[in-house]
Amino acid sequence: MRAFLLNQPTRTLGAEELRQFGVLHQRLPVEARAGEMARIKRERGYVEEDEVALSPDTPNLDAICAKFDKEHYHTLDEVRFVVDGEGIFDVRNQKDQWVRIEVDKGDLIIIPANTYHRFFLRDSKKIRCVRLFLNNEGWAPLYRDAAVTA
Ligand code: LAC
Ligand code: NI
Repeated sequence: MRAFLLNQPTRTLGAEELRQFGVLHQRLPVEARAGEMARIKRERGYVEEDEVALSPDTPNLDAICAKFDKEHYHTLDEVRFVVDGEGIFDVRNQKDQWVRIEVDKGDLIIIPANTYHRFFLRDSKKIRCVRLFLNNEGWAPLYRDAAVTA
């Protein structure tokens, strides 16, 4: 994981600084994935689990990415454990500034409910993530008015 304010890329932020605006990050062993996901579910009450994989071979990749690369939030936590590949989450901090969080294999990231964010693939266009959900409702992204996102 590498995190920084988008307008101040030379100063990296640690997990403690992410926690100040509600984002949790942990490094977890991918080999122990089943046990680690069971633990996180138990600790935080998540019940649903699935896996999502994107790659240059994914049909409609551009259309899928276009849903995530616009600023949005969910009424549930967004929980992603990267088991392969890499990606970029931008999350708004308490001052409404973008914090860029670059993740790769072994990164667990939890973006709290009702927090604006967006997601991009990197040049490899490859990521595989376990997703955990509190329930199976309310996953539709709620987009921010483009007028205020510049
Ligand atoms: C999502 C991400 C990628 O909503 O923000 O699934
Ligand atoms: Ni999202």
